Amino acid sequence: MSMEQDNSKARYDGAQSPFRSEVSEPIHKGARALINQLQVLFRTSQIHDIGNVALVRPVTNMMNALDVIFRSEPEFTVRLRGEYLYLDQTRIRYDIEDMASYEYMVEALKEKKIGSITFQQPVTPDDIKRFAYTFSAMAPDKDDSHDELNERLAQRGVKSMWTGAVEEQEQIKFDDLADRRKMAKKTYFQAVSVTRGVMNNIKSEQPTHLKKVKRVIQGIVDIILKEESSIMGLTTIKDFDEYTYNHCVNVSILAMTIGQKLGFDKNLLTSLGIASLFHDIGKVDVPIDILNKPSSFTEDEWEIVKRHPVMGVKAISKVRGLNELAASSMVVAFEHHIFYDMTGYPQTRNKMMPNFFSRIVSIADQYDSMTSARVYSRIPYTPDKALSLMMERSGVQLDPLLFKIFANIIGVYPIGTLVMMDTRELGLVYESNPNPEKLDRPKVILITDSVGKRVTGRTVDLGEKDPSGRYKRTIFKALDPKKYNINLAEYFL
Ligand SMILES: [Fe+2]
Ligand SMILES: [Fe+2]
Repeated sequence: MSMEQDNSKARYDGAQSPFRSEVSEPIHKGARALINQLQVLFRTSQIHDIGNVALVRPVTNMMNALDVIFRSEPEFTVRLRGEYLYLDQTRIRYDIEDMASYEYMVEALKEKKIGSITFQQPVTPDDIKRFAYTFSAMAPDKDDSHDELNERLAQRGVKSMWTGAVEEQEQIKFDDLADRRKMAKKTYFQAVSVTRGVMNNIKSEQPTHLKKVKRVIQGIVDIILKEESSIMGLTTIKDFDEYTYNHCVNVSILAMTIGQKLGFDKNLLTSLGIASLFHDIGKVDVPIDILNKPSSFTEDEWEIVKRHPVMGVKAISKVRGLNELAASSMVVAFEHHIFYDMTGYPQTRNKMMPNFFSRIVSIADQYDSMTSARVYSRIPYTPDKALSLMMERSGVQLDPLLFKIFANIIGVYPIGTLVMMDTRELGLVYESNPNPEKLDRPKVILITDSVGKRVTGRTVDLGEKDPSGRYKRTIFKALDPKKYNINLAEYFL
């Protein structure tokens, strides 16, 4: 096997992130394609019979994916471990587009109590079809289902594929971590989809589902109250067509994190979460080609964009069932671009300091906008650059006290920052140091070694010292991930 073997002791260490990535990129791509095609086949086999033409494409695609992997591994196993899929000992990474099929496969394997599928060269198209139909026909939740499945496969002459039992939950710590991360991820994407729903409903003047909004915000509140950094990491997800929805969710998470540090209770956090989720709701009235414009706004376009706070108030007034939340949401929508020094927009005759919620949202909003490629600034700043620019605005545009709290949460090197260390290794800031005196010593996922070679996604604690009492690694500088062709969000999924 050319793949790296698991070092289970290290892998189950609580500080260890469950990433393994030291597999060649083609194999990784092959594994992702394999998961995608298996998912299509399983679904298709539930609708069509085995001779149906709908199977031709997925079977061909699956053969291609297998070919890629077989080139270096004549036999390999796709394994379910906790909430993740592995190719032999290596966790299969996946992108946002692959997420639905990945999760489908995890659930399908869990439901049938199948822990692994092994593929051995040569696999024929008929083997693939028979496997998919035999798998789909298995009753859910049966013990020893892998034995039964293997027997049935043998009866049908399939020798190139077989299955294994679900691995015992070896380590609670690991699974617990995986489950928490999964929870955070699910909640995040639910929030994005709920936001999309609300904005589309408002646009088409349909009634909105506030229950869903409240539920998803409460879900985030629960995660934040457990001091989970996992959800903070997800706010590094930005560059998508769905930017506006992602932005609303990111701002909401960042605002609630500030609220939590201020000691807000659950109810207050939920109100803040909803108000901040709706802060840009007036953008439903801004034409999409202006919002997504790749260059700077013209004067006229800028005037239209500047209307979104007022349009937001109007939009919120149409949402039924907000009740006591309506007032705070309207205030935030109206005020989130009015600064601490009362400049900004919209300009009002009677100048008043923006409301407390608005001042929190303004900070979260600036940070997320500055670190994104969209929205006003067309070039994203690295998180630390954004923070230092905001520092200059503290006390002028931004409430200095709230900014101080925010800066402490984000740390000197915010979660999601790509950093170079004095060892010349590159890493991704994964978790901030809870000790306020050691903000420059977060936990980091190693991305490359000292000569620039991609490495397993091992997490290291920069607070760690060697026997002589010297720090093992120190951050040397923050880098721009775009220049290094690294998709950071991937590491948080
Ligand atoms: Fe805005
Ligand atoms: Fe915004």
